[in-house]
Amino acid sequence: MNNTWNKIIYKLWAPVYDLVFNSTLFLQARKTVFKNAPIPPGSRILFVGVGTGADLQLLTQEDSTVTAIDISPDMLQQAKKKYGDSQLITFMEMDAQHMNFSDESFDIVIANLVVSVVPDPMLCMKEIIRVTRKEGHILIFDKFGPDDKKLSIRKKIIRPFVSILGTDIGRSFAEMVAPHLETVKQQENAPVLFNGMYRKILLQKVK
Ligand SMILES: C[S@@+](CC[C@H](N)C(=O)[O-])C[C@H]1O[C@@H](n2cnc3c(N)ncnc32)[C@H](O)[C@@H]1O
Repeated sequence: MNNTWNKIIYKLWAPVYDLVFNSTLFLQARKTVFKNAPIPPGSRILFVGVGTGADLQLLTQEDSTVTAIDISPDMLQQAKKKYGDSQLITFMEMDAQHMNFSDESFDIVIANLVVSVVPDPMLCMKEIIRVTRKEGHILIFDKFGPDDKKLSIRKKIIRPFVSILGTDIGRSFAEMVAPHLETVKQQENAPVLFNGMYRKILLQKVK
């Protein structure tokens, strides 16, 4: 997976993405993920890989400042169509692996269905943590391989084919967070969808 391919594949996904990932099962899962999310009034929120903005509808804090980045202009365009009039959302075309923000710029960083998509999830995670303020939170909803056992043969076989469609079904969250265990505390790691393949993860930056 690389950024050029992601731009191509998400150009194709853009017009139909919401039909799959913003309806029924996924919409319900998103609501679960946002339930009790630590987003007090006035928060500076960053959405990483915001896509078509499916999560933006779940924000209830009207006085928050929202920045939303994505590498795909076509996905961003869909989000802008829905939320472009809002003065409180700034959309930016940006690579989540090299963010153009100062350290500790945000109170909460929300990265849903994106660390399974970026070419280098380790780099993306490092950036997410860098731009989160101390005591701030990181909210992740994504699919991960199991932490305690190997990927099944079936998943190993279909993994390369699914990655052509723009996502990786075999990444390990434990591996992604391992270099940062002194910097972030895991507050939640809960199954959300498909027998725990999709998980809600809440981290707090402690230093
Ligand atoms: C599966 S979609 C998820 C979109 C949205 N977060 C959601 O929950 O529906 C993955 C998104 O990540 C974006 N993306 C892929 N590589 C990226 C990168 N290097 N930097 C920023 N966004 C990227 C894609 O363009 C796409 O919009």
